[in-house]
Amino acid sequence: MYERSRIVVLISGRGSNMSALLDSTQVHCVADVVGVVSNQPTAAGLGIAMARSIETAVVNHKDFESRDAFDEALSAALEALRPDLLVLAGFMRILTPAFTARWQGQMLNIHPSLLPAYPGLHTHARALADGVCEHGATVHFVTSELDGGPAILQARVPVRAHDDETTLAARVLEREHEILPLATNWFATGRLRLLGNQAELDRVVLTAPVPYEESTGATT
Ligand code: GRF
Repeated sequence: MYERSRIVVLISGRGSNMSALLDSTQVHCVADVVGVVSNQPTAAGLGIAMARSIETAVVNHKDFESRDAFDEALSAALEALRPDLLVLAGFMRILTPAFTARWQGQMLNIHPSLLPAYPGLHTHARALADGVCEHGATVHFVTSELDGGPAILQARVPVRAHDDETTLAARVLEREHEILPLATNWFATGRLRLLGNQAELDRVVLTAPVPYEESTGATT
């Protein structure tokens, strides 16, 4: 048996990835979501967390004069919750190097693209504009490089002829809801860790992210 990991989820909006994580932690019982923290007071995900009796906190970036001051306050709020792992689930703030250094090796992020393709915003629109035939989502460790930390798990989806941003985003989101809980579970059970700047799964360095479809037999 493992000691259950304490997870804090960081959100900025809707919170569907957070909900997927809450569902999965309840089923697998290797981790507890002990808090949800948002930088947006109006984030819909806060209401979902409260309805599920999860402790919530808001650290509004607008209340701070600098990124450093915001990140310091955020770290203090997080420390109060004593997390083993922070999961960034639609958290839309760029973090300072001081923050990423403080939580190095303890932070996962879900990003809606096949990293290293399309870091940053508007990933679905950019993929469609480029006419790519495949798109997807990636879970990675968070480092100081925006969407650039070691990739862990990646799910691919086809881009279909009549896709627009909405239909493509929905197809990717379905996979996000699967890969974020799975990678979190790997971390909580001690299978996944960050060593230096490399992700290690079952003591093997990942030279490329694990393809979700191969790891589970899922099809797109
Ligand atoms: C997700 O697509 C996530 O990958 C991106 O923002 C979206 C957040 O959705 N960074 P939700 O708040 O988890 O529903």
